[in-house]
Amino acid sequence: HSGHEEASKVKNIQTIVIGAWSVDTWYYSPFPGDYGNYHTLYFCEFCLKFVRSTDALQRHCNRCVLRHPPGIEIYRKGNISMFEVDGATNRIYCQNLCYIAKLFLDHKTLYYDVDPFWFYIMCEVDDRGAHIVGYFSKEKYSEEDYNVACILTLPPYQRKGYGKFLITFSYELSKLENLVGSPEKPLSDLGLLGYRSYWSLVLVDLLRNEDSSALSIYEISEKTMMKTEDIIGTLQALNLIQYYEGQHIIDMRRVKNLKMGSKGLPCDPDCIKWTPHS
Ligand code: ACO
Ligand code: ZN
Repeated sequence: HSGHEEASKVKNIQTIVIGAWSVDTWYYSPFPGDYGNYHTLYFCEFCLKFVRSTDALQRHCNRCVLRHPPGIEIYRKGNISMFEVDGATNRIYCQNLCYIAKLFLDHKTLYYDVDPFWFYIMCEVDDRGAHIVGYFSKEKYSEEDYNVACILTLPPYQRKGYGKFLITFSYELSKLENLVGSPEKPLSDLGLLGYRSYWSLVLVDLLRNEDSSALSIYEISEKTMMKTEDIIGTLQALNLIQYYEGQHIIDMRRVKNLKMGSKGLPCDPDCIKWTPHS
């Protein structure tokens, strides 16, 4: 299915139950078989298997031994964990995650061929297990320099800084790969808000702390792994670029006086245990 076909379809599932949450959905998602005919679907929060009733979920949970996403833990600090899941190794888990993501995305072509992607799952950990709060997917190899294919914070966790953690993490992986990156286009409205917010924080932070009068856009890109077009677009959106005597220059007085949003949930790069897949 193309994204457009799916966007025009009427919403099928109204609610999903996952972990402690009952979440109202936003958009259509192409659940297989007759699953799409149900008002509510019930998900195991650890393996993401979905069933049609609370009874069936209870039976599943009595048997399911998973207490964290499949794959390996590549980040841990405090109660926040990140797991890396290979789409080719844990196909069903990743497909089910895509079905969930589509419930909150209308514009995007989602690929249910998950083999070419890594999935990075953000969890909050307590004594009962590692509970999924959001994720992003990433092509194993991107010709367009995309470092994120699809990003989602589950609605109960939105607007609390989890999205900024995920975006920060995606750029930290890009730094370890030594590759500039950018999110896959088109961005959703919320995706653009999230990225604009992250990009602004990074750029303003850099300009305030470095001897930025000497920094070129190219050098900013090398330091941040942001694409030059994202850097220029953000500086323009912040109204920081001025045209002076035939040159584009950054208005440092405005940089100093800008009021910035919150930094979101802190992501400590030293806690990432990961090396690039060559
Ligand atoms: N209205 C206005 N601003 C918002 C909203 C909202 N509903 N939600 C987030 N923001 C702003 C925040 O104010 C914040 O900026 P600020 O701190 O400068 O004020 C910024 O966006 C990021 O906020 P976070 O709390 O860190 O982000 P969140 O955890 O809410 O996640 C995300 C953002 C992932 C985009 C989330 O909204 C989401 O999952 N949306 C549905 C799926 C989606 O659209 N994903 C992006 C598709 S594009 C792509 O995948 C490449
Ligand atoms: Zn399970």
